[in-house]
Amino acid sequence: MHQLINNSLNAIWIVGEEGKIYYCNRACLELLRVFSPENILNKNFCIFLPPDIHEICKDRLRRVLEKKEQLELLETKMFRNDGEVIEVELRTAPCYLGDKIFAQVIVQDITHRKKTEKLLNDQGKLASIGQISASIAHEIKNPLTSVKGFQLLKESQPHFYLDIMESELDKALATIQNLLHVSKPDLFEEPLVPIELCKELNSLLFLFQEKLYNVNTELLFRDSERNLVGKRNLLLKAFFNLIKNALEAIPDKGDIKIEHYYQNGFINIKICDTGVGISEDMLKKLGTPFLSTKSEGTGLGLTQVFTTIHEHGGSIFVQSIIGRGTVFHVQLPCD
Ligand SMILES: Nc1ncnc2c1ncn2[C@@H]1O[C@H](COP(=O)(O)OP(=O)(O)OP(=O)(O)O)[C@@H](O)[C@H]1O
Ligand SMILES: [Mg+2]
Repeated sequence: MHQLINNSLNAIWIVGEEGKIYYCNRACLELLRVFSPENILNKNFCIFLPPDIHEICKDRLRRVLEKKEQLELLETKMFRNDGEVIEVELRTAPCYLGDKIFAQVIVQDITHRKKTEKLLNDQGKLASIGQISASIAHEIKNPLTSVKGFQLLKESQPHFYLDIMESELDKALATIQNLLHVSKPDLFEEPLVPIELCKELNSLLFLFQEKLYNVNTELLFRDSERNLVGKRNLLLKAFFNLIKNALEAIPDKGDIKIEHYYQNGFINIKICDTGVGISEDMLKKLGTPFLSTKSEGTGLGLTQVFTTIHEHGGSIFVQSIIGRGTVFHVQLPCD
């Protein structure tokens, strides 16, 4: 029995009165990055848990030891011995050793699951921002277009202000049209076609010849025979926007690396630059329409990228370090 628990792949703690750790199996030592059981036995299990849930845990322990209850799952953070914080799920039930009752706690590391959930949630949020912007744009476009019709007034009653009104209206309509373009790719029923992405990425780079003068480009294309099926114009526009951003992030000299490879049913495209980087605060908001740090930027580039990749069932991961550079990692499903 002892062997079974010790070799179990689940991290298991046996906790006694006052929260003292009575036993801890091998998987648990590994999870907590504790080298030997002596470093942990007889310590209070609360030292691995955040202070705000200590009271809750004491109460749970009481319920197990006194009322012999099997408890509902508890999600919390946990501190490893080296200070790293992980997300865990605690499953707790009574267990008997001889005639004494203890709490058996199974600890499951759910850090990865939590990260994925957050990512899906963020992508969902971005998709809905895109949808909301598209419907607002649609609503505003109609009245603006009818106001534009009144420019006929100019002919009967010319006025300097009417010219300004006309040009400002044109700007507003162009902005709205852009927003519609990027936030509702479905508006343009583009057919799904096979796309030779490596070839297309090569051609896209040619469009930036002038800007590539000070930038060293490296292309690492693997698995280029894998054909992607998608909306060609939308996808090319998305990669154009990503490459454009990468180039604009490099003020003087720098490097851009584009990788292409296939893994587990997905084509992966990584666009890495050694540019200015993106702050943490900004990272969280990427994809929101009109978010831009550039004087001439519309802030719609990434909205187009996120909605397009999302529409193709893909995902985007962004990593960045200020002053060092940025990686945009796109994954697109492929047979
Ligand atoms: N590779 C990158 N490196 C550093 N910052 C980036 C990078 N990509 C995007 N950003 C940041 O994200 C912001 C939004 O990008 P987005 O492409 O949506 O708009 P923009 O580039 O400002 O304008 P537009 O694309 O319309 O010209 C940028 O202003 C910039 O601050
Ligand atoms: Mg851009």
